[in-house]
Formats: sequence, C-alpha cells, structure tokens
Amino acid sequence: MRVTGQVTVPGDKSISHRALMFAALAQPGATSVVREILDSADVRSTAAVLRALGVPIPSFSTAMTITGVGRRGLAPASVALDCGNSGTTTRLMAGILAASPFRSILVGDESLSRRPMRRVARPLEAMGARIALSAGDHLPMRIDGGALSSLHWKSETASAQVKSAILLAGLVGGVEVTVEEPSPTRDHTERFLSALGASLMAASGSVTLAPAARDLAGFDLTVPGDPSSAAFFAGLASLADTGSLSLVNVLASPTRDGFFRALSAMGGAVARGAPRTTDSGEEVTTYEVTPARLRSVWVGPSEVPSMIDELPLLACLAAHAEGETVISGAEELRVKESDRIATTVANLRTVGAVVEERPDGMVVVGSDAPLRGRIVTHGDHRIAMAFAILGRRRGNAIEVDDPDCVAVSYPSFWRTLDEVTR
Ligand code: S3P
Repeated sequence: MRVTGQVTVPGDKSISHRALMFAALAQPGATSVVREILDSADVRSTAAVLRALGVPIPSFSTAMTITGVGRRGLAPASVALDCGNSGTTTRLMAGILAASPFRSILVGDESLSRRPMRRVARPLEAMGARIALSAGDHLPMRIDGGALSSLHWKSETASAQVKSAILLAGLVGGVEVTVEEPSPTRDHTERFLSALGASLMAASGSVTLAPAARDLAGFDLTVPGDPSSAAFFAGLASLADTGSLSLVNVLASPTRDGFFRALSAMGGAVARGAPRTTDSGEEVTTYEVTPARLRSVWVGPSEVPSMIDELPLLACLAAHAEGETVISGAEELRVKESDRIATTVANLRTVGAVVEERPDGMVVVGSDAPLRGRIVTHGDHRIAMAFAILGRRRGNAIEVDDPDCVAVSYPSFWRTLDEVTR
C-alpha cells in the first residue's frame, strides 16, 4: 500500500463542543465567530441541545457567528434534550443545566444510555442540584437546576468531562469550584475560561475557578485539527509500504498528543514540525509520517488520558508490531461509546490476531501474518476507523459492519482514506 498527500483533519471535537457552549453563554448580544468547527453528529447534538434551550445557533458553516444569551439566559426546553451518541454533550450540558433554574431532561441513543452518568451527577448534587438518573447511573437524566453552593471535588476518575461539568456549573452558578483529578486530562475548558477573562488557578493536579462577577466576552476562534482523527492517518502511513503523509494543523496539546509520542516510541517515523500558536491559544503542528517497522510498547495509567480515544488504534497497530504490547490502567475504555477493551479484543481475534483481555487493558502479540475478517463496531466510530486503517495494510482484508458510524466524529473519513491510498 502506498500513501501520498496532505491531510487536513476536521476541527477538534472537544474544542468544537466547548466553542458552542462558551459562545452561547457569552454576555447577551456578544457575538463569537467559530471557524473550522467540526461538523459531525456529536457536535450537532450540542448545537441542537443549545437551540432547544433558546440559543440562536445558526446552521453549520466554516465560519459560524453565534450570539450569546448570557449565563442566565437559557430558557427551559419544551422537549427532552437529545444528546444522541455524545457523552461530552451530556456531561458538559449537565453542568450548565445544574445551575439553570428550571427542569431539564437529557436523553441519548442506546449506546449513550448505557454509559455512566453518576460520576457527573454526584458532584452537581453536592453543589445543590437535584438530579434523577435511570437505575441510579444512566440516561434519561432529570435535572432540577438552581442556586448552587461552592464545591471542592476530588474526582476518582481522570475525566475531562466530569472536570468540565463542575467548572461550567461553577461558572453559570457564580460559585467557586475546585476540582482535583488523579492524572491530568485535556484542559480545553480551562483554556477557554482563562482566555475569556475568568479567574482560574491551576496547581499541580487541581484547578480552581473563582466566581465570575460578569458574563464572559465573545471570541473569535479557529478550531485546530483533531489529533484523535489525525492519529488514524498517522497509523495508516506507518503501516504503508511506501510514500508519506503530511498531517497539517493538528492540535499539539500535551494533554492530547500521547498517541503520537507512543507511535514514535514504537519506532514510528513521525517528524513533528515546529509548533505554531493559533488564535485559540492552543499550539498546532504538522506531522510528517512515513512507513516504519513498528515494535511493541508499554502504555501505563499515567499515559492513558493523553491518548484515551486512540487506544483502539494503538492496539490495531500493535497487532503488526514486533513483540507484545501491554496497555494497562485503561479501564475507562470500558465505558466509552462501546466497551472498547472488549470490542477491540474481540475484533482483533476475529481477524486472526493474538490478544489477551485484561480488566484494565490488553496484551497484543504482534505478527506479520495477514489479518482478515468482518468486524463488529457496535456503532462505535473509533472502532470502525481503527480497523479500517488496519485493513489497508498490504495482505489484510477487513470489512467493517457499520461504516456510517464514523459520522459521529469524522464524516469525511472514508473519502480521505480513499484519496490518500489511491
Ligand atoms: C472528552 C473527554 C474524554 C474523551 C471524549 C471527549 C472531552 O472523555 O474520551 O472523547 O471532550 O472532554 P472522559 O472525560 O470521559 O475521559
């Protein structure tokens, strides 16, 4: 297989969700311009939820202008708020709605309805919101929001969604919040808050948001390319026989670039260009990736958060790396869009790889033997894309049962894949 060309991956999903939320909460009448937002099913869920709460979110375009309604300007929705497949929409909006003085009901698709929500309800309840969950942990989530009190929360799980929900509740509720996390997770919410004038103090392992006296300002932001999407093409170039791929404008935040560091540690030929700071305050870079003979790697708990969504892909690459790759401390994978430990292991076995499943990860035994078969995604976009990449290696033949599920994060994935492997 030969790869060639330049890939401009779509805007970062995490930043796109937050851009819509912060633009909506900006002071009444303040306009924000969000450029290169990710137009995917998940981000559309956030847009639809905000619209149902009375925010005038226009249709998606490469430069969206959004007018804020202010922190207290959301209106009760007349319908249940449909978060689709999106955990980020659900958990971050839960924080905002916990401080909004009306009742809201959050619902989602089958996969989202299986995911744990108590982790976000508990701190919000501790602040004073009244929250009811189905079977104590699942959607539908009914939130009776209102005046909140301040909170110092020690999070048991390393989750940017939980951290962000608490910060957003503090912002909208006008109360001080501190979140301690077991290991650093993506900090896009904190960066937004600081850039927009909120008073935020970060210490090692914790972050404190002081109550804001007034609404935040509007902003103009270009969303950087999503490293979790770029990772698939870095993986593809690594598995290729010849050629090279250049991945441009990729978010290079240290909270998100763990996959690229792991790929280099595996012997991947990854040249990272000079970092450039964009108007988002985030650094972006260009990766030039060429084929390489990969070797196994160990990924442990401290590295997991910086590559959490890329681990199924890493496991797929490990199936052709020399030696045994061990992924540990990654039990959070079990509560993603699918149980990503179980789905990755089952699918790797289906195509002929040797894998051991562990409660908190897996061991993948690398081999040169061709991998073939039809994999089951369980509607999980990242499983579909990880195995699609593996399937392009010379000699492999992998069919994906539900190719359309990539629309959650990367609607143009298949087109780009065909373009660069032509
Ligand atoms: C996200 C945080 C991560 C990640 C998800 C997006 C975010 O989830 O897996 O795709 O935008 O904050 P957790 O916070 O649950 O680990």
